[in-house]
Amino acid sequence: MKTPGPGADPLDEFERAHRRLAALLLRHRVALVERKGTLAGECFDAWRIALARHIRLEETFLLPWLDKSARWAPWVYLAEHRKVERLADALTDPVGAISGESVDPVRILELLEREMPLKHLAEHHHEREEMDLLPVCRRRMSSVAVRRLSEALAATDVARLVSGPIQARAPDPITGQEDE
Ligand SMILES: [Fe+2]
Ligand SMILES: [Fe+2]
Repeated sequence: MKTPGPGADPLDEFERAHRRLAALLLRHRVALVERKGTLAGECFDAWRIALARHIRLEETFLLPWLDKSARWAPWVYLAEHRKVERLADALTDPVGAISGESVDPVRILELLEREMPLKHLAEHHHEREEMDLLPVCRRRMSSVAVRRLSEALAATDVARLVSGPIQARAPDPITGQEDE
């Protein structure tokens, strides 16, 4: 697992995680287009696991540092987190129902369209964080808080979170493994 080394800014890891999450969701969508239902489901599950961990880290280590200098209050991020989770929950069964290679292409298209609000919200949310949350945290977090965050990032048991064939076929949004 690539974790921030000594002197590295652990907040950079959040921007990298946004890129990896986007890449994983793209893999999921490409797998749908290719009618690879099992892979599409694995990618979606991995995305959700990685997103849940990402959200937990932000709410534990970053949001408490927002003050009046921040453009958006913590409740804005919390509300978007809950909405992303709700949208993802609503897609779990429809994504799971796509299996095999004989799926009606119309169903694939309908699912892709149904996923658009989630995709757009995730993109918008990550932009908001990179525009304000991360800069505020870079300005305000104490050295002790930064060290605790680095330790939390390093302590993640990646193999337990993302396992199975998805590891070989999709970029890992947690570990920092680059695209093949
Ligand atoms: Fe977030
Ligand atoms: Fe984020």
